[in-house]
Amino acid sequence: MKLPEGLAGVIVDQTRISSTKNEILTYAGYPITELKDVPYEEIVFLLWNLRLPTESELVSFRRELVSQMKLPAETVRLMERIAREPQHPMSILRTTVSLLGTTNDNEHDEPPRILAKMLTAVAAIIRIRNDQPIKRSKPDFGVVENFIYLFSGKRPTAEQVKMLNTVMVLHADHEFNASAFTARVVASTQSDYYSCLTTAVCSLKGPLHGGANEQVFKMLETIKQTGQDPLEYVERQLESGQKIMGFGHRVYKHGDPRAAILREIARKISYETGNEAYFEMEEQIRDFMFEKTHLHPNVDYYTAVIYHCFNLDRDTFTTMFAACRTAGWLAHIMEQREEGCLIRPSSEYIGETNRHYHADKEAH
Ligand code: CMC
Repeated sequence: MKLPEGLAGVIVDQTRISSTKNEILTYAGYPITELKDVPYEEIVFLLWNLRLPTESELVSFRRELVSQMKLPAETVRLMERIAREPQHPMSILRTTVSLLGTTNDNEHDEPPRILAKMLTAVAAIIRIRNDQPIKRSKPDFGVVENFIYLFSGKRPTAEQVKMLNTVMVLHADHEFNASAFTARVVASTQSDYYSCLTTAVCSLKGPLHGGANEQVFKMLETIKQTGQDPLEYVERQLESGQKIMGFGHRVYKHGDPRAAILREIARKISYETGNEAYFEMEEQIRDFMFEKTHLHPNVDYYTAVIYHCFNLDRDTFTTMFAACRTAGWLAHIMEQREEGCLIRPSSEYIGETNRHYHADKEAH
């Protein structure tokens, strides 16, 4: 029996973490529309424990995460060497995650420490690549406030924290997406957390998954720099069989619920930072794409402009996605470990049969 291409629509396992059933995204049963302004650390607690924390649990969980937002000196030393190489930041992150699992006996780290380190590592990669000194987290800041401080070097405004918090919440998990599934496959072999996360980063890097956000902004920049008409550009791309990055989704065929929320943030922040030309271009392209293809924008379409408005370089956008998604990856790794079953499907062999080595060698 031939399965659908790319396993589209195939239910490969059960999960209690998140769902996209009926195109409604829920985390442990709560709709994302009700969670968008909840503090990121509370969402992480929910994804890992499948229940909301009490007030005191939230305070101590936040304290634990913030206290771990630091990297071993040895890791930083090695990161400073690799992050300066002319490599893509996602490649640097991939190596960094692997490195985190090999320095200072970190292989035995537990999820809160791992998440805190991942956020810190992404911020450090952004700073090192800009030749800026690495910042130390502030014990009196929350997780999102610290994260922004660590990559920007400036104390964010309450409005910036609110906006990035929503971005982080919306990216925290997304059931069996390619990177979470990859992490689960590795976890099913009883491998360690950092090995699972390294493969998740590798999977997220591709432009059909998390790498799309960088490609969206590349398109907007190209249109702006060359002075082309955005709709003519998109039409030409479509006519030549190219996909328009940031559109379409394997699960959401009637619109990505995250995109609807992010669109409003992109609108607000782009006007506040003088980047409204990018947002307006996105609006034009969105309408045109719907008219031409009936495709809707996905989560990566609007984060491209949002991250630009946070003064981030285009090639670091997917590392931001990785930082936010680490919470979900860890939830899936834990759930898979609890299941304790090896993921090892079978394939249908469709190649040559009945060949004989010696006979074929003689015939050559
Ligand atoms: N631009 C133009 N055409 C598209 C696009 C697009 N972005 N997406 C899908 N299509 C077309 C596709 O060519 C196909 O046409 P046809 O039936 O004539 O061959 C049809 O729509 C169905 O698409 P599909 O690729 O078979 O659908 P899928 O479920 O396999 O693809 C997708 C989902 C996300 C891979 C695809 O929509 C895509 O490549 N989008 C662009 C990349 C992107 O934005 N990725 C981010 C995904 S959301 C967040 C994340 O995972 O990180």
